[in-house]
Amino acid sequence: LQQKGSQDIKAASDLKQLNDIRVKLLGKKGPITEVLRGMRDLTKEERPAVGSFANKVRDALAEVVDQKKAELEQAKIEQQLATETIDVTLPGDQPKIGAHHVISQVIEQLEDTFLGMGFKVVYGYEVEEEKYNFEMLNMPKDHPARDMQDTFYITKDVLMRTHMSPDEARELEKHDFSQGPLKMVSPGRVYRRDTDDATHSHQFFQMEGQYIGKNVTMADLKGTLEFAIRQIFGEEREIRFRPSYFPFTEPSVEVDISCFKCNGKGCDVCKHTGWIEVLGAGMTHPNVLKAAGVDPEIYGGFAFGLGIDRFAMLKYGIDDIRNFYQNDVRFLTQFEKRG
Ligand code: PHE
Repeated sequence: LQQKGSQDIKAASDLKQLNDIRVKLLGKKGPITEVLRGMRDLTKEERPAVGSFANKVRDALAEVVDQKKAELEQAKIEQQLATETIDVTLPGDQPKIGAHHVISQVIEQLEDTFLGMGFKVVYGYEVEEEKYNFEMLNMPKDHPARDMQDTFYITKDVLMRTHMSPDEARELEKHDFSQGPLKMVSPGRVYRRDTDDATHSHQFFQMEGQYIGKNVTMADLKGTLEFAIRQIFGEEREIRFRPSYFPFTEPSVEVDISCFKCNGKGCDVCKHTGWIEVLGAGMTHPNVLKAAGVDPEIYGGFAFGLGIDRFAMLKYGIDDIRNFYQNDVRFLTQFEKRG
């Protein structure tokens, strides 16, 4: 058996055949297993001799199988090496790599800027409670300022957020002032019932933020916002603060930057005045603090809100907000950051 088995094994021409032979010889139904199984019919004296002989034959055959297997595997690899050559000098396929949307790029830049000034970044809810979107921001029902933000309602009390201020109310309510001031920004999508055109969209992006603590002043507001604007638009831009009105801040300001290219005939992007508004801000109204359970006698600070689409349009000279949402690759690829 051992001799015949060895011959068969050595004659195997591929791995599959070898395996079949191995099963036939050494498997559960093979002759050796049969002999070992038959041991129970033998006498006590016969058993050790037969057993050890059978084991020896089995081990010897198993070894031949292993040798042959290694041989065949090696041959297979050699054959593969000979036939499946790859020309590593051929140029590879260029994979098409995506890139961050220009809106995401501006958000990231703003987040970095504010993180650098010790603000944290939070992300709230696109579907909001009316309470956080309006009520807690000093805009009770029937407040005329609600008309400034024509709203998509889901139910009477639930709506698509119209600005990022609800995040500010939520954070204010949660914050433990014994641990220090609250400095946060929150970027995200907001929704308003607007007819879409070059400068209006029913959906756009804002970033709002606030710094509430002890002794936070208008000077902090100015310094913080000037720094952030310069980070995005460059050092040479002039910045001016104008008085304005928002229900949640008092006093309120709007911030303008000087235009791109101005010549004798006027200015690119912002036409005639030479200035364009980039954000709204102000000192947080005591009613907003009170609504969130914060004592306005001790704590105060500023809040601001800016349109990210508008920032992107001004920064890159884009004249139609709809470009951001149409996903035309010819538009999008212009803002791919390379290398
Ligand atoms: N929430 C305002 C808006 O959406 C922006 C703003 C935020 C203004 C904070 C002042 C202070 O228009």
